Amino acid sequence: MKGVILAAGKGSRLYPVTFFTPKPLLPMANRPTLHYAFDRLKEMGVTDICIVVGENESIMKESLGDGSQFGIHLSYVRQTEPKGLAHAVGFAQEFVGDDNFVLYLGDAVYGSDFKEIASRFEASGVANLNLVKAVEDPSRFGVANVEGDRIVKLVEKPKEPESNLAMAGMYFFGPQLWKVLPDLQPSGRGEYEITDAIQMLIDRGETVLAGVYEGDWFDTGTLDSFLETSFYLSKGESLNAGSLEGEAGPMVIIGEGATVSVGKISDSVILPGANVTVSGEVRHAVLGGTVKVDGDVVNAIVYDDDRR
Ligand code: G1P
Repeated sequence: MKGVILAAGKGSRLYPVTFFTPKPLLPMANRPTLHYAFDRLKEMGVTDICIVVGENESIMKESLGDGSQFGIHLSYVRQTEPKGLAHAVGFAQEFVGDDNFVLYLGDAVYGSDFKEIASRFEASGVANLNLVKAVEDPSRFGVANVEGDRIVKLVEKPKEPESNLAMAGMYFFGPQLWKVLPDLQPSGRGEYEITDAIQMLIDRGETVLAGVYEGDWFDTGTLDSFLETSFYLSKGESLNAGSLEGEAGPMVIIGEGATVSVGKISDSVILPGANVTVSGEVRHAVLGGTVKVDGDVVNAIVYDDDRR
């Protein structure tokens, strides 16, 4: 089985940090986000991996190379315009060929492995198996109606969800997917939805299975979720790979080579190489680049340097 990671997004909810570092490379507990995806894929025996990149292409290639340093083989394709997940995956068709593959959303972080679910898919011989997870707010996600172990209906971000099972960002496909992609139409939000592609597989009589996931799952795209995931991965511990002058409260992660001078810091991440001087308090914040503030930085993403 091969792997396809979607990592072309702009990460606009973490701007301006993502102006300098693409979201898939942002350090989580001092390790780039995608390195956790590589771990999860390797556990399933998936080492031949294609990353779908966008405008971040050159920095992604420079940072991740051919993957040999991670014990995998990486190749890259570029999504020309941001038109949705089903559009993005289409660029990987040549790489995948007639093989099965697992589609992995590059900003997802998971707490448990997928060895069993991956083996179940491979043994089943079906067109598609998707990770689903019971959530409290299903209307933020693709939502699956499940009968037995089969998904019988899928709706993207329904206002009135018919189930609490969210599509949890990992999809196992056989080559049947390639037949439906050319027939997809853009959704209400103007995107080619992977949920619509899967619904089309169901409508054409393919068997689509659900793999219920009970482990932890994070989407890392906002300030709150970025901090939450970082401290989940560091097990709530502070980490310091740079230098800190000032009072440190709980949950502080300082990236490699960063220098930080603050009144007090807690519940915050300082990115690698940053040079931060804040006279007051830093709390619930992500800071990078060169930051000089007379006062407090609370509940904020701050990044500045002379490339802007
Ligand atoms: C996408 C999918 C959605 C899925 C979600 C998981 O949503 O369209 O079905 O539940 O990822 O994170 P998006 O992040 O594009 O809003």
